[in-house]
Amino acid sequence: MKKIAVFTSGGDSPGMNACIRSVVRSAISLDLEVFGIKYGYDGMIRGEIKKMESQSVSNIVQTGGTILKSARSEEFRTKEGRKKAYENLKKHGIEGIVAIGGDGTFTGANLFYDEFGIPVVGAPGTIDNDLYGSDYTIGFDTAVNTALDAIDKIRDTAASHDRVFFVEVMGRHSGYIAIQSGIGGGAEMVMVPETSTTIDDVISKLREGRDNKKGSSIIVVAEGDAQGSAHEIAARVKIHTPNMDIKVTNLGHIQRGGAPTAFDRILASRLGLAAVEGLINGQKGVMVGVIDNKITYTNLKLSISKSKPLNQELVRLTKILSI
Ligand code: F6P
Repeated sequence: MKKIAVFTSGGDSPGMNACIRSVVRSAISLDLEVFGIKYGYDGMIRGEIKKMESQSVSNIVQTGGTILKSARSEEFRTKEGRKKAYENLKKHGIEGIVAIGGDGTFTGANLFYDEFGIPVVGAPGTIDNDLYGSDYTIGFDTAVNTALDAIDKIRDTAASHDRVFFVEVMGRHSGYIAIQSGIGGGAEMVMVPETSTTIDDVISKLREGRDNKKGSSIIVVAEGDAQGSAHEIAARVKIHTPNMDIKVTNLGHIQRGGAPTAFDRILASRLGLAAVEGLINGQKGVMVGVIDNKITYTNLKLSISKSKPLNQELVRLTKILSI
């Protein structure tokens, strides 16, 4: 293998830049030519492919976002779109690709590998931490710390006013950000898609808190919770708790930005090198990850089809500590 390409796709996550830097510099160190594809699959279809040098990735290890930009591509969902993308890779003599992204990115990568046989190694870049085959994904740790910082601030004002706050964090199908920021932020309750919490459960918990002389309470809600958004849940709870002062904060996209934590920079750098070495050593159609702090390669089909269960120890911990 002589030439490889790297791209980022789907929702960005802090640490993607550190991963791009690692892929580019690892490839150059290992005598490969490396190309950057802008705007993910969309850019592959449009031919936005440029050779990268070691200095193309200077001063980015500490920055959020992605210098290669990102997009969610509709055209790549079609066979014609994928064919155009493949022709563009062929034009540049690219023999292997590193795809940095989440489950949508890997669904596309897996199809592409099946149809054209081009070696693909995925590097898990998503704040959701929802990919089977890696204990952690790039950006998750930063997102948790961002959410935690916000929860700490909300706690100050909640305590001053004896209020109940519902704080919505990201996680379409996954409660990882919610559970970790909830434990770190001392939440009274965490609502996640993986476990069912009813409105009655919430009301009982809040009343129990008041009986135990709690002045304020924080409930962290993952955006994918079955009961709906934090606003919807709060509105339903309010009907039954007229004496409680209830507020809602949706943290939204601030969780996707900012300087990556040391953990994310190091994880991203390790995964970038392992992705390049994987391609050189004949890995294809896989996602690189870390399990028990060791580099692993998991079939892409498994990484997108198997769900990663929420750590039950953390779920139990939240309940025990919230009395
Ligand atoms: O998959 C990462 C993620 O941040 C989810 O947590 C969230 O639901 C989604 O992306 C938001 O996507 P967009 O930026 O396209 O609205």
